[in-house]
Amino acid sequence: TNRTFTMIKPDAVADGHTGAIIQLIEAAGFRIVAIKKTQLSADRAGQFYAVHQERPFYGDLCQYMSSGAIVPMILEKENAVADFRALIGATNPEQAAEGTIRKKFAKSVQANAIHGSDSDENAAIEGSFFFADLEKF
Ligand code: GTP
Ligand code: MG
Repeated sequence: TNRTFTMIKPDAVADGHTGAIIQLIEAAGFRIVAIKKTQLSADRAGQFYAVHQERPFYGDLCQYMSSGAIVPMILEKENAVADFRALIGATNPEQAAEGTIRKKFAKSVQANAIHGSDSDENAAIEGSFFFADLEKF
């Protein structure tokens, strides 16, 4: 098995979808290795999304991601990164497949309910951005 990193984004947490989203994640066969509720400062959101700093939406993204509580998690499953990105669906909810988490809960391309790491390497980096080794079970 291997691991991926996810966070339920501020819109979905504020709208009370945390439980429903976790239910879909566990039903899809992912085991929760680490979980908490926290809030990013704009600076820390900027660090997390530093790869996007040249993109036109970077400022808006950092403001949005620091606008409310988030629920970061480390998840474990065979083929975790690819399977999780399939479960959440396309970045833009208008293009997300039926039955995906973003199709159900995303409001816009920015407020798209949930994050999923795009590689094993980034999953490890992003998991360690939020969790100490002693919090990963
Ligand atoms: P993440 O799992 O959150 O990384 O999404 P992704 O991998 O599907 O998309 P990407 O890494 O390209 O973009 C990161 C995040 O930036 C997205 O999830 C959106 O929240 C936001 N984003 C991406 N494209 C746009 C855009 O064109 N406009 C705005 N406002 N936000 C965007
Ligand atoms: Mg991404």
